[in-house]
Amino acid sequence: HRPTTTRILVTEPLAESGLALLREEAEVDTRYKIPHEELVRIIPEYDALIVRSGTKVTRDVIEAGERLRVIGRAGTGVDNIDLRAATERGIIVVNAPTANCIAAAEHAIALMFAVARNIPQAHQAMQRGEWDRHRFVGTAVVDKVMGIVGFGRVGGEVARRARGLGMRVLAYDPYLPRERAQALGVELVSLEELLATADFISLHVPLVESTRNLINAERLALMKPTAYLINVARGGVVDEDALIQALDEGRLAGAALDVFSEEPPRDTRLATHPKIVTTPHLGASTTEAQIGVATEVARAVLMSLRGELAPTT
Ligand code: MLT
Repeated sequence: HRPTTTRILVTEPLAESGLALLREEAEVDTRYKIPHEELVRIIPEYDALIVRSGTKVTRDVIEAGERLRVIGRAGTGVDNIDLRAATERGIIVVNAPTANCIAAAEHAIALMFAVARNIPQAHQAMQRGEWDRHRFVGTAVVDKVMGIVGFGRVGGEVARRARGLGMRVLAYDPYLPRERAQALGVELVSLEELLATADFISLHVPLVESTRNLINAERLALMKPTAYLINVARGGVVDEDALIQALDEGRLAGAALDVFSEEPPRDTRLATHPKIVTTPHLGASTTEAQIGVATEVARAVLMSLRGELAPTT
């Protein structure tokens, strides 16, 4: 027994691969679906907290965490964690930025085909006993233009796959060096040019102040009426009211959304809209990615607790 046991609280399902690693060095409590007040009440007992995207790690949680030294995010986006409050208290925030990139990219490609070939609508029609081969004529993706907004790890994986499908790929990313884009066979353009040119627009930016409502009414108006919008990044990046309006007015062909400004979305128009295909934030939900993310975040949390990792996020 150690003189003072390190205690870790996990508030959302974490694959066994990660839990096993954590248990080698600490006492681990799993409290899934814990109400916010309860989290605030028990957090003083823990040295580390591990969450996915469902737990809101707000200032009150962080300030109640008297012994809290590390917050681990089993995934990429840290928009559910109050980073400023954590920094103020010297708490390290670590994420798992690599293990679920391919899963997110694969989901974006899956959603592209879902909208291009009307797969969900056709499946639903067959479930109703219908057999209609004319209503669901789709659109090819070969020789079409894929526009990638945000060219980080996920955007890069989407680009490789789109290139493999015979698409021309445009990217918008204020931080991407032109040489890196060229090396990947991608043309770096302005956001306006991308929106006006692409047939499929896929979003891969984090939700931060500068990307909130990035795809607003004005930018939706730049898109072609035949274009499709795909979002597996974060809901807050798209103005959902403006999106619905653009679809209703025939200024956009369709959209595929895996993420919503509020999850689950209270706005029922999103999941029921005939031109929107939805999935419940499944971008990272493959068995492989969940094992990878659990291991990656567990290692980062343990390293931080041992003092081997400097604050990065
Ligand atoms: C991520 O940020 O890694 C994904 O959205 C997956 C998740 O929220 O767990």
